[in-house]
Amino acid sequence: MKDVNLGIVGLGNVGSGTLTILAENADEIARKLGFRLNVTAVCSRSVKSKNLPAGLAPKLITTDWREVVSHPDVDIVAELIGGTGTAREVVEGAIAAGKSVVTANKELVALEGVSIWKKAEAQGVTLAMEASVCGGIPIHAVLREGIAGDHIETLFGILNGTSNYILTEIEENGSAFNDVLAEAQRLGYAEADPTADVDGFDARSKLALLASLAFGVQLTPGDIPTEGIRRISPIDFHYAKQLDCTIKLLCSARRVEDGLFVSVRPALLSKKTIMAGVKGAYNAVWSRGKFGADTFYYGRGAGPNPTGVAVVSDLMRVARSLHPEPAHRVPPFAYTDLAAAKPLEIGR
Ligand code: HSE
Repeated sequence: MKDVNLGIVGLGNVGSGTLTILAENADEIARKLGFRLNVTAVCSRSVKSKNLPAGLAPKLITTDWREVVSHPDVDIVAELIGGTGTAREVVEGAIAAGKSVVTANKELVALEGVSIWKKAEAQGVTLAMEASVCGGIPIHAVLREGIAGDHIETLFGILNGTSNYILTEIEENGSAFNDVLAEAQRLGYAEADPTADVDGFDARSKLALLASLAFGVQLTPGDIPTEGIRRISPIDFHYAKQLDCTIKLLCSARRVEDGLFVSVRPALLSKKTIMAGVKGAYNAVWSRGKFGADTFYYGRGAGPNPTGVAVVSDLMRVARSLHPEPAHRVPPFAYTDLAAAKPLEIGR
């Protein structure tokens, strides 16, 4: 069976989570796919082989992304550097070289996703972006496929793990804003420049993407009125508590008579609501459909491993679609060799 070869560009939080999972979960991934994913080439500004998880032996370790995207053995490129400068060159360079691309880059896909997707279509390659929104919650798949049959009327989200972590720490422990932000950076939740997290820009890119999926509109982040959490302090939580409320950075999108209402802003939420219970670096999305009524999705919104799971799952999905043997393309069960699995003791 043909293995599929990966090129990984970027070894920050998401890149290192991705490589850890590809190394430590390699056998299970191979059992699910029926073939292996090999990390063939890795690029990082300062990569050294000793920084790579044990068990990975890439043929190429480089500081030049062009060597990864043009590597003849690489089938899929994962762009994990973020931002819209070099990241865009990597994604477009990989597509031009005939490689499918997996990206975790919400800013790039919110701004340029449609034009990049058209380039991918023209080249006959795939662009996958599950990791760009909500870390470990597979929300793209839910909106694109899981509840595609519904007519979504309202969507609310807590879409930035860093700001939710900061608000939770201020509320529960009276922590100082800058201390919690430093901790969020240490834990790998915050962006390299955390302005995007605390000023709401990260959340608005994600809302633009989700609203496009949910409502079929092309929305750019600049269309969304946005306010971050910089002005929230312990006194705000003191007053919120008197109203039996908490404060969340709430992303909203709902149909109105003449279009769509969208916003990202701190909001008072009754402690009785399900969203109020979303604490720490977690994200959540709540949607209301005309037919299916309410659905709710919850999970880790930030951090190397949860986001790494989303990247690896996208890599697996794209690898299946590329595989020359049709039996590998649409597996009926999660594991291709289910019959060979050890029986589990159930109910003892
Ligand atoms: N900085 C982002 C957050 C990472 O805190 O949600 C995940 O996109």
